[in-house]
Amino acid sequence: MLFMTPMRPAPDFTAMLSDRARHMNASAIREILKVTQQPDVISFAGGLPAPELFPLEEVRRAADTALTKYGPAALQYSTTEGHPPLREWIGQRAGIPAANVQIVTGSQQALDLLGKILISEGDTVLVEAPTYLGALQSFQPYGPSYVQMPTDDGGIDVDALEDILKTTPAKLLYAVPNFQNPTGRTLNAERRRRLVELTAQYGVLVIEDDPYGQLRFSGEAAPSLYELGLEYAGDVNANYVIYCSSFSKTLVPGLRDAWVQAAAPIISKLVQAKQGADLHTPTLNQMIVAELLDEVLPRQIETVKKAYGERAAVMLGHIEKEFPGGVEYTRPEGGMFLWVTLPDTIDSTRMLQRALTRNVAYVPGSPFFALGGGQNTLRLSYSSATPQQIGRGIAALGETIREALD
Ligand SMILES: Cc1ncc(COP(=O)(O)O)c(C=O)c1O
Repeated sequence: MLFMTPMRPAPDFTAMLSDRARHMNASAIREILKVTQQPDVISFAGGLPAPELFPLEEVRRAADTALTKYGPAALQYSTTEGHPPLREWIGQRAGIPAANVQIVTGSQQALDLLGKILISEGDTVLVEAPTYLGALQSFQPYGPSYVQMPTDDGGIDVDALEDILKTTPAKLLYAVPNFQNPTGRTLNAERRRRLVELTAQYGVLVIEDDPYGQLRFSGEAAPSLYELGLEYAGDVNANYVIYCSSFSKTLVPGLRDAWVQAAAPIISKLVQAKQGADLHTPTLNQMIVAELLDEVLPRQIETVKKAYGERAAVMLGHIEKEFPGGVEYTRPEGGMFLWVTLPDTIDSTRMLQRALTRNVAYVPGSPFFALGGGQNTLRLSYSSATPQQIGRGIAALGETIREALD
């Protein structure tokens, strides 16, 4: 033994944390998921892609192909910007140079790095009410001051947005325009145009987070904010919109492959930030995804869309039958989630305990509001439950809601 001393008291490590770390908080969802992961519980809480649909064999073959094709380079460090064939494919699809594409380790990393390079302490960040919880978690350490934009079935209320912009100098607007997490709502085409015009006029950057856009199972697709921003600006390097998307929901989440499309000055700062974070997204993972782009990805998107469309329809059918009057819910045209608004006498966080005694779980809505609210709301995910589980789970939830109303 080097030091012959009795056990010393543990230092106060918490007091040594940075101010930035003090801004961080545990994900409310993770805490809830721990409770909901008991084996008998039918969980609509998780929001995981359906694992039985993962293209396991195709990924195995693509890994083999990549290792044969690139040899040791497949396992070597690689450039921060990303695997060139992957960037080129993304650029071509978006009609922009590959130089305006940055590969990231999940779009979650894009949110963190964009927060790091764009948000100074106190900057106003406009977010939907409700919004994606993971974005709040990423932005939080950088000390934003949030303003909530009201939303309805057509997405962000752009009249309300204009009123906000008239009085509040905002830096950044964050939105999930397609099949939003948590509501499943989509921003309508007309509002997209207004949003792009307004933000450009007021000089506000837009982060368009679009992991679900490819998973539309009904209705008509609207142009992305990024496309509209490009049309408005007329130049890829003058577009106020920064676009993030991911292969997590269309292929597999575990490879952690996603990307950002943005103006050159944003991309070059992002490269520096990413160098400090992880040097680059895993080389082999990017090569695997690149091998899957032409044949497997389009097929996989069709498979996933079909399955989620069926599961959403089953869930909506049961909700119609099982939920009491006075309960409202969204009708998503794609993605993985729907959103339930209960009569405002019910607190969905408190109701979760009762739901768990009936072996069904959901995520209470209030953590998705940056500034609080939504106590009577909840998120249901239909992506990874079987029709039988959906039937039983929704019946149990209907009973729980009825009991809470008594
Ligand atoms: C809106 C939104 N953005 C980003 C992410 C993170 O996805 P990724 O797996 O690409 O990091 C998710 C994941 O659920 C999401 O719902």
